Amino acid sequence: MLHATGLVKRYGGVTALDGADLELRGGEIHALVGENGAGKSTLVKILSGALGPDGGEIALNGTPTRFTGPRDAAARGIAMVAQELSLFPDLSVAENLFVTALPRRFGLLSPAEMERRAAPVLAGLGLDDVPVHAPVAGLNLADRQLLEVCRALLATPRVLMLDEPTSALPPAAVDRLETVLRQVAARGIAVLYISHMLQEVRRMADRVSVLRDGRPALRGERAGGLSLDDLVRAMLGDGAPAPAPAGATADPVAGDPERTAHDGAVPDAAALTLSHVTVPGAVTDMSLSVAAGEIVGVAGLEGAGHRAVLDVVCGLRRPASGRVTLPGGGTPRSVRDAVRQGVAFVPGDRKRFGLMLDQTVWENATAVRWLGAARGSWWQHRRSLRARAQANLRRMRFHGDIDGRTGELSGGNQQKVVFAKWLDTDPSVIVLDDPTRGVDVGARGEMHDIVRDLAATGRVVLLASTDLAELTELCHRVVVFQRGEATGELRGAELTEQRLSTAVNGS
Ligand SMILES: Nc1ncnc2c1ncn2[C@@H]1O[C@H](COP(=O)(O)OP(=O)(O)OP(=O)(O)O)[C@@H](O)[C@H]1O
Ligand SMILES: [Mg+2]
Repeated sequence: MLHATGLVKRYGGVTALDGADLELRGGEIHALVGENGAGKSTLVKILSGALGPDGGEIALNGTPTRFTGPRDAAARGIAMVAQELSLFPDLSVAENLFVTALPRRFGLLSPAEMERRAAPVLAGLGLDDVPVHAPVAGLNLADRQLLEVCRALLATPRVLMLDEPTSALPPAAVDRLETVLRQVAARGIAVLYISHMLQEVRRMADRVSVLRDGRPALRGERAGGLSLDDLVRAMLGDGAPAPAPAGATADPVAGDPERTAHDGAVPDAAALTLSHVTVPGAVTDMSLSVAAGEIVGVAGLEGAGHRAVLDVVCGLRRPASGRVTLPGGGTPRSVRDAVRQGVAFVPGDRKRFGLMLDQTVWENATAVRWLGAARGSWWQHRRSLRARAQANLRRMRFHGDIDGRTGELSGGNQQKVVFAKWLDTDPSVIVLDDPTRGVDVGARGEMHDIVRDLAATGRVVLLASTDLAELTELCHRVVVFQRGEATGELRGAELTEQRLSTAVNGS
């Protein structure tokens, strides 16, 4: 249905694609994988008309084609869900679904007609509860992600491309998306999707292509015939050490029993305490103590209240009653105040909380350190700051140019910068909310090692993650929430993905 050969794309001195191929068949789910910066997003941007290639051919149903822009590609049946979400936060759900995508086609629809058309698609993705007339800004990241998929489906495409659609989704939503994509493929549509979750790729995709440094490393291999190891090897190249994948995603570290967290660290004095904390609409009378050196996870379904624990520790929200006590004895009054008291916050939603995209990579990676610094000292310390940013980022396998604009980095590499900037603050409490979202398997393992090292040197770590494997691999214990209350705790040998999933879902 769509066949691209020899695609080349250069950004200034960087060659993002260097002879990339892709062949998509109607009726298949085709996964595209590769390390951060391998060129995956660049490839789908070219195939959806958002970028012009510097070389290579694209054929649609056998006819050589050149797209003049995204509109042109859309008119020829190509729909794309981009990696960085593109909804208009101030517009309503319904407006986002219809007004922006194809105005000429949908511009004259009445609100009632819009709702009638959107309802079944929303329901299929489990979004039947979202308020269609409310602004999108009020939705969480997972729902916004699904809404983008919904918008793409409403355009009734022949080729549907999704750039990391599952990276922010909890497991139940991934299942729903999988069901929907199966139905879409069964109608003869070609589905291409990008993911770093290799187990999910093996389960969900019919065929897999791998990009390495902008070149094909695997071309449309049958997914069922590939092991995790095959995929990791194809991504990293032959010279790479063979990682030992374990759990739901391939984590090179998890295979080494010395390095799994949950048998270690016996908590001593409590360093972070929440006592009888109530946040209206989120948690009620919640108490939790975390010792220095502990990595504690919080888990629950959407709205179960676990995220409010992170919010009150970061100073994003203040409890209506009860008290949060940080290791220094203070209580966080605002985000800025929490930072000053040694709290670091690594969010997965980098667009909302993250980066100054016009600044250089190293400036972003050292930004927090300078929140309270005296003027003028920046220039004096420029060199040492730059060097530290370099070292922190290298450790996460960041290969890019630290003097380049942050906005030009691939999505996963931007996430590494978010992580690095908090590492640089010497925090006493580290709050992680989906910290490895969009990060490739190799870098994910490195980031996990960094978190373990921080805990081993006496920091307190709190983690929420849509990726249950991340919770089980990293945490000493996980507190499970339901309807605003902590209903259980898993630790040691009980802390498995299976049990966590069961506990989160309510039994
Ligand atoms: N607008 C841009 N300007 C300059 N360089 C860019 C731009 N967009 C991407 N690049 C570079 O092109 C290369 C490929 O980036 P791309 O976003 O396609 O990677 P990716 O495979 O999607 O990675 P990720 O898994 O992190 O999303 C990277 O080196 C990136 O820094
Ligand atoms: Mg990308």
